[in-house]
Amino acid sequence: MNQTNTKMYNGIAPKLEDNVFIEGTAVLYGDITLKEDVSIWPMVAARGDVNTIFIGARSNIQDGSVLHVTRKSASNPNGNPLIIGEDVTVGHKAMLHGCTIGDRVLVGMGAIVMDGAVVGNDYIVGAGSLVPPHKVLEDGYLYVGNPVKKVRPLKTSEMEFLTVSADNYVRLKNEYLEQL
Ligand SMILES: CC(C)(COP(=O)(O)OP(=O)(O)OC[C@H]1O[C@@H](n2cnc3c(N)ncnc32)[C@H](O)[C@@H]1OP(=O)(O)O)[C@@H](O)C(=O)NCCC(=O)NCCS
Repeated sequence: MNQTNTKMYNGIAPKLEDNVFIEGTAVLYGDITLKEDVSIWPMVAARGDVNTIFIGARSNIQDGSVLHVTRKSASNPNGNPLIIGEDVTVGHKAMLHGCTIGDRVLVGMGAIVMDGAVVGNDYIVGAGSLVPPHKVLEDGYLYVGNPVKKVRPLKTSEMEFLTVSADNYVRLKNEYLEQL
């Protein structure tokens, strides 16, 4: 498996659990933890340099997404780490900065989630939407727009799709791993 694109920063290298896939054009620096079956797709840039990044099991970060964090300071003693839960799908070219994403979430293509925002469990952030700093979203809802507004509760079919999407990406990355 080509994981030479995981790079050390300040003596800390990304920690990868079993069956992780990192496509060869993605770059990951520093204090990043990828749990089992995580997949990182082409051109993802993730920097765990001034704080930490954690990605839960079976989550996928799709092409061109940017993951970063905010450093600790006197006014913000913990800074803003980036925490992504389990079975999360992050669509193409999303930007996640120092926020917390729960389990079974779909972050739509091109969405932006800013520092200190909390996206709960079982949740869809519409494509191209913006979640402002420190906004806390309610579990089980569809939010869209810039800034995001709560639109409606997720349908049962949409809830089911959240884990289907994560499962599909686990299968897809297994196929990629077999071809390396
Ligand atoms: C959010 C999403 C799930 C909405 O699906 P939907 O079934 O069309 O939703 P609804 O029909 O209930 O739409 C509710 C309202 O939100 C609007 N809307 C839907 N998606 C929107 C988006 N991404 N941004 C802004 N508004 C959106 C609809 O136009 C509608 O507005 P209206 O009530 O004024 O007509 C879908 O549009 C989306 O963004 N999916 C993300 C897909 C993706 O990025 N996948 C990752 C790649 S693998």
